[in-house]
Amino acid sequence: MNERQETAAPPDQTPSAARPPGYPVELEQSLTLRDSRRVFIRPIIPADELILEHELREADAETLYQRFFTTQPKLDAKRRYFMVHIDYRWRLALVAFAEDGRAVGIGRYEGAPGPAQAEIALVISPAWRRVGLASTLLHLLTEAARARGLRRFVALCLQDNQAMAALLAHAGFDPPQPNAGVAVAEKTLF
Ligand SMILES: CC(C)(COP(=O)(O)OP(=O)(O)OC[C@H]1O[C@@H](n2cnc3c(N)ncnc32)[C@H](O)[C@@H]1OP(=O)(O)O)[C@@H](O)C(=O)NCCC(=O)NCCS
Repeated sequence: MNERQETAAPPDQTPSAARPPGYPVELEQSLTLRDSRRVFIRPIIPADELILEHELREADAETLYQRFFTTQPKLDAKRRYFMVHIDYRWRLALVAFAEDGRAVGIGRYEGAPGPAQAEIALVISPAWRRVGLASTLLHLLTEAARARGLRRFVALCLQDNQAMAALLAHAGFDPPQPNAGVAVAEKTLF
């Protein structure tokens, strides 16, 4: 992808003691974005719960609304626990960190073995948008999902979310189908 360049040595690495069982270390990577800023991307770990809580607290209302369809999402301890404890197969989340250690983007898919289908979600900090970060996370999630036997991605976004609609079109999703204010788009993975 032209948004990124592989680099030999990542600026950061997850301490092996923090990696839970099944953690796919091969998904860790350091990338340079289109505007030359660097990010370190890795799968989410349980210790990220505090980071997640901080980012959710700091997020602006519009971002929360576009991501969760409400400006006051119910992200209590149980829900946050669920978000950072994943099996790295049917459920996977990738976090992008800036060089100062701040989380600047998260992409995830939530699936299940039966239908081999997963719902994707993406959120990028406003100051890090339009430099290809969401596309990169989606590309990495797509490759990981294919390798894990998932067959389909589904994306739900608000019907007026033009940024997400354009991103999904860019990534080869079928045209979104509107339903009661929400647009649903799908992509067959293979
Ligand atoms: C939607 C969102 C994830 C896009 O993240 P991003 O990192 O800026 O996206 P990218 O830079 O990878 O953009 C890829 C392409 O999508 C399209 N796109 C992205 N943002 C756009 C915008 N604001 N307006 C129009 N097109 C846009 C463009 O075609 C872009 O390619 P280009 O920059 O080469 O023209 C980001 O705006 C966001 O976090 N929004 C709030 C949360 C949200 O809406 N999540 C979706 C529901 S889960």
